[in-house]
Amino acid sequence: MTIERIISSENINDDKEFNWSLRPNTLDEYIGQIAIVEKLRIAIQAAKMRGEPIEHILFYGPPGLGKTTLAYIIAKEMNSNLVTTSGPILEKKGDLMGILTNLEQGDVLFIDEIHRLSMVVEEFIYPAMEDFKTDFVVDKGAFAKTIKIPLKPFTLVGATTRAGMLSAPLRERFGLVYHLDFYPLEDLMKIVLRSAKLLNCEITENAAREIAKCGRGTPRIVNRLLRRVRDFAMVKYNGKIVEDIAISALKLEGIDSLGLDELDRNYLKIIIDYYNGGPVGIEAIAATLDEESDTLVDMVEPYLLKIGFISRTKSGRIVNEVAYKHLCIPVKNLNSRQQPLF
Ligand code: ADE
Repeated sequence: MTIERIISSENINDDKEFNWSLRPNTLDEYIGQIAIVEKLRIAIQAAKMRGEPIEHILFYGPPGLGKTTLAYIIAKEMNSNLVTTSGPILEKKGDLMGILTNLEQGDVLFIDEIHRLSMVVEEFIYPAMEDFKTDFVVDKGAFAKTIKIPLKPFTLVGATTRAGMLSAPLRERFGLVYHLDFYPLEDLMKIVLRSAKLLNCEITENAAREIAKCGRGTPRIVNRLLRRVRDFAMVKYNGKIVEDIAISALKLEGIDSLGLDELDRNYLKIIIDYYNGGPVGIEAIAATLDEESDTLVDMVEPYLLKIGFISRTKSGRIVNEVAYKHLCIPVKNLNSRQQPLF
């Protein structure tokens, strides 16, 4: 079963046009992640001064925090093209070969979910990243020979939600490695206000704060929530988003004061009700919830870990006291559990 979530940070297709229209086009327009933005600004300017492409960049962190947006901005700021693909799409060497040989000097190749590249494709990409060459094997057996095909210097931008799943040789080939973290409330508020302006939608600061509070630290989520609240304000009222309207619209969507939705609450309740609060392994939780474990690891757990609602121990996930309080469930049997790993 796949639960469709309004607060999912997945890049849902029908949302793409909406999201792209709200995305910043330049580093100056980008809100938040100031340390990364500053380092990118310097790297871009230095690369331009040298007349070279910027070094390969790896972005890692939970979905919806701006990895694709930054790749798009880098290409724009470098006055080059952005070519996008993803790890699971690139099944064979030939799939990547076609893309690489068509790249122009300085183009940005964005590979989303780079942790899901197959081993053959990953090994094929090493010489392309390092020397801008590919080793293509033609013929078989005794006649097999490797042809080196030169490529035009390009920048690979990789994105992953699971840096730990990248092999060391791949990770080491990125000159710049940046971790995107959840956005603080003030940055999310600024993003809501900016997006509302682009959508010609009137909104008060307090209403923007309510939406930001439910945004789970994620720009993609606040933009999606803003769209829901905008619909609600248009249909039920005169279109202007004020605090009470925002609160009612968010409540109607089943989102609570911390931005948790049905799936988050079910995840926590399953650990509490079926596994006595944990520790329990992710596969057992996924099976009980009838969800993919990858969905839980990528979409549900990062924020629950961030706000301290769950911890990971050697023997599995545990629900912490703050989560019981938030769910109004009496706390029991927490003392006998293991200490968190971090
Ligand atoms: N829209 C989505 N993410 C954004 C960001 N970081 N800055 C400005 N607008 C955004």
